[in-house]
Amino acid sequence: MMDLEDRKPWGVGVAGLGTVGAGLLSFLDGNPAFAPAGGLAYVSGVSARSRSRPRPFDISGLPWFDDPVALAQADSTEIFVELIGGSDGPAKAAVEAALKAGKPVVTANKALIAEHGAELAALAEEMDVPLLFEAAVMGGVPAVKMVREALVGDEIHSISGILNGTCNYILTEMEATGRSFADVLSEAQRLGYAEADPTMDVGGFDAAHKITILAALAFGCAPTFGAAEIEGIEQVELLDIRMAKDLGYRIKLVASAERSMHGALVRVHPTLAPLDHPLARAGGALNALFIEGERIGRIFVQGPGAGAGPTAAAVAADIADVIAGARRPVFQAPADTLAPFDPIDPSKMLGRAYLRFLVRDEPGVIAAVSETLAEAGVSIESFLQKPTEGAQGVPIVLTTHAVAESVLTAAVERIAGLPAVLDRPRLLRIARI
Ligand code: HSE
Repeated sequence: MMDLEDRKPWGVGVAGLGTVGAGLLSFLDGNPAFAPAGGLAYVSGVSARSRSRPRPFDISGLPWFDDPVALAQADSTEIFVELIGGSDGPAKAAVEAALKAGKPVVTANKALIAEHGAELAALAEEMDVPLLFEAAVMGGVPAVKMVREALVGDEIHSISGILNGTCNYILTEMEATGRSFADVLSEAQRLGYAEADPTMDVGGFDAAHKITILAALAFGCAPTFGAAEIEGIEQVELLDIRMAKDLGYRIKLVASAERSMHGALVRVHPTLAPLDHPLARAGGALNALFIEGERIGRIFVQGPGAGAGPTAAAVAADIADVIAGARRPVFQAPADTLAPFDPIDPSKMLGRAYLRFLVRDEPGVIAAVSETLAEAGVSIESFLQKPTEGAQGVPIVLTTHAVAESVLTAAVERIAGLPAVLDRPRLLRIARI
């Protein structure tokens, strides 16, 4: 144990004063000793895009750095906290500079870790300093520590989660209020929930960064963002939310990572989860994670995946770990032993699906659709038709039994070509959980 007299406060350089940076500094407002680290740290310097932007706390007494790289390299910075964001640019330059200077790094940057985690881990391990990123995944929920540390004794088979609060909020509101994706998105932007450019969130990229990190930790691989298959929620229609509900499902943006003897499959897509499944019940901006392991069986956690307080608390926990001297490989195994994921070809995966077709309301159409599916060997599990007065065409919806994705997509293509089919068919996967 460290002798109390030997303790000296650590200087923490904080780069990026957006939502999370503001949360971290608000913790310290009026209490310069860093409480979660036992009073053993203080903010030694800050850097952000604008020094003068109005903030809910006073930074006038803190040493200011225009350049985050200079902050990372400053003698006063003993722990570098990167809250700038973005996979490249100043965030990457500053983290590399800190690691090369032999400084521990704490970051909330999922894009950086998902896209450059392996090379940064190698640099951190070469310099023998920690690189911690609890806040990068699920904000205040300790998902990274859980997978990297608490579950390291098990063999994780799959992880699936709701990892983007903005998408979860939009889907929940669409169902609750009957408004369209576009309407709810603009409201979320007005309220400040969604970014002005919401592509990272609604396009599924933010969730893909997070599941890439969890998959690397769970499967002992290098994070391989390029191997993730990504579909966002932009195409989710109210009609599908309602039809799915009538069939006993809720549409969620699910990020999943599965391991088999053939490799790993990492993907993000709108998914139908049974209404009584814990993932279906996580509403609003909540994040949720479902893990299946060889010995642990099933684990489910949920909580706030974003926001100043929860995310700053996760950053603070990492700072406390650095100070406590906690050391382990950045991922599950030393960086020089990590291999990229061996991606599974998703077209070979078996799964159930939800299909929606807009068809002419005339004799023989349902028979033609079901015959095409039967010829391809796709077995129908349930079927629903909702008459819509005055509308051109009628939507028919069906769910299938498990089938290879390549077989299903080929059959759907053939159905799309039938003369009675009026619009692009919609295919959504049903959760395998
Ligand atoms: N934009 C993310 C979300 C939070 O909506 O969940 C930060 O990762």
